[in-house]
Amino acid sequence: METNKDIKPENKADGNKKVVLSGIRSTGNLHLGNYFGALSKFVRLQDNYDCRYFIADLHALTTNPDPAQLHSSVKNILAEYIAAGLDPEKNIIYIQSDIPEISEMYLLMNMHVGIGELMRTASFKEKARKALGIISDSDEIEKEIIGNQSNQRVNAGLLTYPTLMAVDILIHKADYVPVGKDQEQHLELTRRFARRFNSFYKTEYFGEPVNFNFGGEALKVPGLDGSGKMGKSEGNCIYLIDDEKTLRKKVMRAVTDEGPKEPNSAVSQPVENLFTLMGLVSDPDVIQHYRDAYADCSIRYGDLKKQLAEDLLKVTMPIRERILDIKDNDEYLSKVVKQGAERAREHASKTLKEVREIMGIRPL
Ligand code: ADP
Ligand code: TRP
Repeated sequence: METNKDIKPENKADGNKKVVLSGIRSTGNLHLGNYFGALSKFVRLQDNYDCRYFIADLHALTTNPDPAQLHSSVKNILAEYIAAGLDPEKNIIYIQSDIPEISEMYLLMNMHVGIGELMRTASFKEKARKALGIISDSDEIEKEIIGNQSNQRVNAGLLTYPTLMAVDILIHKADYVPVGKDQEQHLELTRRFARRFNSFYKTEYFGEPVNFNFGGEALKVPGLDGSGKMGKSEGNCIYLIDDEKTLRKKVMRAVTDEGPKEPNSAVSQPVENLFTLMGLVSDPDVIQHYRDAYADCSIRYGDLKKQLAEDLLKVTMPIRERILDIKDNDEYLSKVVKQGAERAREHASKTLKEVREIMGIRPL
């Protein structure tokens, strides 16, 4: 496995480290999808890059959370970032809404973003479908949205979600954005908005940020319910904060099938998901043992699940202990984000000032 030491610091022409930027929405606790898809990458990058990580509370607002829940979720995620290994001295850690420059630049950037391209974004269509209770995959979703009377359910913040995300990234002029596979379309839009801004104003102001996967593919951590993706709204998650009993119970209840009927048969999706999870936490020879047992029909899913739970616990338990240690230390947590906001604002205000200038918003 690659370690921090394997990653060489990449230097820009001006001698500075390349900038890494990423965030996670404050919509609950972090699960294994967030951890392996995003947070563990954040941690691995922190020694060799100029890293800035934030809690996307404005993005969380797009799904109208309860105010008290939003507030406690921001705190949870902050504690979880630090507990998973993010060092506030090595990284800029901040809360998105603490940086007012982001909101202003979001307004400015929206002038260069088309409603049509936003409506065609996969994540928007999916969220709109969910909000309106539409099950079908039909492309008629645009008509449904426009015709719908309960306007707040599909709000304008949800539509302009990719603009805000692009601004999060561009305001830092980030080079790398470590995220899971599901965020790649948003990154593609970010690059498109950057190119459009540059070409409209005949400048080369913004670069084109890319995902960071340590040379591999972007990751999609599967759920325990046989589905392709672990996600908060799918209700199929193992959380970093889950206690031992809860985690074991969830794994033991994971969906499987009736078992292989003949040697070397194809592995069904739910069982493949368990192998994928094992691939994240178990030794290769352990995985091979269960692959072989599947191939010769001697596999017992109960044993595989016990092993998987054991190996997952080795990763999550130390993190859980650290979360419990710091999550009520309000003084420490607020010091971290205060310092983070100050440092993030230095970068953000410089970019905003230059963007205003480029767009013609200048002092009289
Ligand atoms: P959720 O889908 O649970 O609401 P978020 O959308 O807040 O999670 O995701 C935060 C980060 O975690 C993003 O970088 C996203 O790509 C990553 N992520 C979330 N779920 C997964 C998953 N199942 N596999 C890989 N990465 C994931
Ligand atoms: N959209 C991301 C998610 O759902 C969160 C996010 C907001 C983000 N702004 C970002 C991620 C900027 C990376 C960079 O997970």
